[in-house]
Amino acid sequence: MVELSARVKTMTSSPTLKLVQIKKQLQAQGKVILDFGAGEPDFPTPENIKNAGVEAIQKDFTKYTPTSGIAELKKAIRTAYLAEQDYEAKDAQIVVSPGSKYGLFILLQAVIDPGDEVIVPLPYWVSYPEMVKFCGGAVVFADHLKAQPAFELTAASFISRCTPRTKAVIVNSPSNPTGMVMKGEELAELIAFFHKKNILVIVDDCYRKIMYGAGKYPPPLKLVPAAHEHVAVVSSLSKTYAMTGWRLGYTIVSEALAAAMTKVQEHSTSNPCSISQKAAVEALAGDQGAVLAMVEEYRRRRDYFAKRVDEIGRIAYALPDGAFYFFADFSHYIRRKKFQDDNQLAMDILEKLNIILVPGSAFGAPDHLRISYATSMQDIRAGLDKLEAYLRHDG
Ligand SMILES: Cc1ncc(COP(=O)(O)O)c(C=O)c1O
Repeated sequence: MVELSARVKTMTSSPTLKLVQIKKQLQAQGKVILDFGAGEPDFPTPENIKNAGVEAIQKDFTKYTPTSGIAELKKAIRTAYLAEQDYEAKDAQIVVSPGSKYGLFILLQAVIDPGDEVIVPLPYWVSYPEMVKFCGGAVVFADHLKAQPAFELTAASFISRCTPRTKAVIVNSPSNPTGMVMKGEELAELIAFFHKKNILVIVDDCYRKIMYGAGKYPPPLKLVPAAHEHVAVVSSLSKTYAMTGWRLGYTIVSEALAAAMTKVQEHSTSNPCSISQKAAVEALAGDQGAVLAMVEEYRRRRDYFAKRVDEIGRIAYALPDGAFYFFADFSHYIRRKKFQDDNQLAMDILEKLNIILVPGSAFGAPDHLRISYATSMQDIRAGLDKLEAYLRHDG
């Protein structure tokens, strides 16, 4: 076999995408799986967005587009962003990509040199460390596992990890896996600090429209006006509009960085899918009723989950403010059932109950499990009934 590159040899596969494969295999064997592992909405893409995609095909909007996105979509992004965050972006600051994952990837490719350090939150979304390593960068963790209140995202946790080699910081709010939202004053302190050191602050806000508190999302590009050239916002339509398969995300950065990212995209994917871009225009500019309805349903599920998990007992968690995940400490049950770690517990639950949960180790947090409530209330009830009986039973 041809020798693989050193870069790819050290890369691990995505543990969450692996679970999707396991689920498909088990379903093919005729098993009924309750999937609490999903990182995507269980809702279909709203009708008006699907129709815009169909119309794009029928009108033959099926060719290459400008690399960083069509003007109509950039306008919709600018307009939505201005209304929501009172920040006026220029078209030249926007790069539309096939998913925010790819937006983040080309952003890191444009900024990180071998040996540069990137501060990443712990627990982390699975792709951050791998992407940083792929650029030759070194991952430095800002630990939120021992934070009080649990998992709180503080400026101090990131600032304390800054060294002369720090090139970028990744903030993920609302967080996958914890659902925590960073407070505006903390984010402002963080941005002000790193801006003075010429370090880029990347804010992955792909769950920002899925929030349960009364407060508004703190606008990263507005918080410290002088610092906006040191802030990159990486956004997604995947979760908000149930559009994971359409692969559509966008980044708002300085014009210089946008031009650099566009070069990388030009030579790798050319452009995001033309049809998805037309659908995205409808998503951003059209009726937002479906989004509000989905968020209300997530809230109902979250509250039900919290009630049931409290009844089971001895599972520590922080009530998520956003996204659609519970991140809970199962160490009591791991010990009681004499398992070595969270991986063994998750595997036993899968084998005995046909329930998929993601081991916390995948996010750098052993002893935890991530439970997604992007699944139907019916499945949540059935799954929690089974889980409760299983956890109460010794052995
Ligand atoms: C924190 C976070 N960022 C980015 C992404 C990527 O989303 P997409 O590439 O679908 O826009 C995900 C997807 O799970 C995520 O959880």
